[in-house]
Amino acid sequence: MVHQPRMISRSPHLNVMCNAAFKAARSLVRDFGEVEHLQVSRKGPGDFVSTADKRAEDTIYKELKKARPSYGFIMEEGGEISSEDDHTWIVDPLDGTTNFLHALPHFAISIGLQKGSEIIAGVIYDPIKDELFYAEKGGGAFLNERRLRVSSRQNLQEALLATGIPFARHPKAERLAFQETLEKVMPLVAGVRRFGAASLDLAYVAAGRYEGYWEPSLASWDMAAGLVIVREAGGYLCDLQGDEDILGTGSVLATNQALFEPLKELLVR
Ligand code: IPD
Ligand code: CA
Ligand code: CA
Repeated sequence: MVHQPRMISRSPHLNVMCNAAFKAARSLVRDFGEVEHLQVSRKGPGDFVSTADKRAEDTIYKELKKARPSYGFIMEEGGEISSEDDHTWIVDPLDGTTNFLHALPHFAISIGLQKGSEIIAGVIYDPIKDELFYAEKGGGAFLNERRLRVSSRQNLQEALLATGIPFARHPKAERLAFQETLEKVMPLVAGVRRFGAASLDLAYVAAGRYEGYWEPSLASWDMAAGLVIVREAGGYLCDLQGDEDILGTGSVLATNQALFEPLKELLVR
């Protein structure tokens, strides 16, 4: 694992976002090491993880606030801090909490920047794999120093898809609707994965690791950074009503151009 900021040239916004993510990652990685030990204790790591989550968010908040004092915030833990400025940071300090809690090394820090109603920059950092996904509107998407491009596979039969399976907090109707959708998708594709960190699911579509990803019930902080990264990697996006209001409806389909219509057909309800 390397947790050093890389010395490549990025825009001022991306630099601020990457530095905040790197700083928060240091404490998250330390705490993740602890969780592996707490796993076997009777009390379990629950409270410890929510403290780790808040600590990471606090670090990100302070860094971003110091760099751009006038910008607003939407944070998973701290809620919304509105401002006169039309820039808003959208922050998930630990996406993949359940993985983290179970000592599964698949989680990320996600920071998006919204201007007006548009996401203009995004950073998703997976500190365990030391993978930094980032994009700024019009500037392309990157993984560390490498330019990203969505998958070029054109057939559903070859497509590996990711999703998020509803769990305890979701109502029964939503769980049943998901089962129906899955039943339609399963016979047509090469596989379906549930990795447990929505931000990384979007980043992996941008990186061409999955051909597509859909999830019916998400928050803005799960998706903000990923949306611009997918778009800048040449991906196509809509919500699960087939419209563009992804943050508004809290649902998403992300894929490449060739599979956009076939997947919409299957997933939009
Ligand atoms: C969760 C993850 C998960 C998704 C959930 C999210 P959290 O975020 O992104 O993959 O299925 O809906 O809430 O709680 O780990 O930040
Ligand atoms: Ca999340
Ligand atoms: Ca979270």
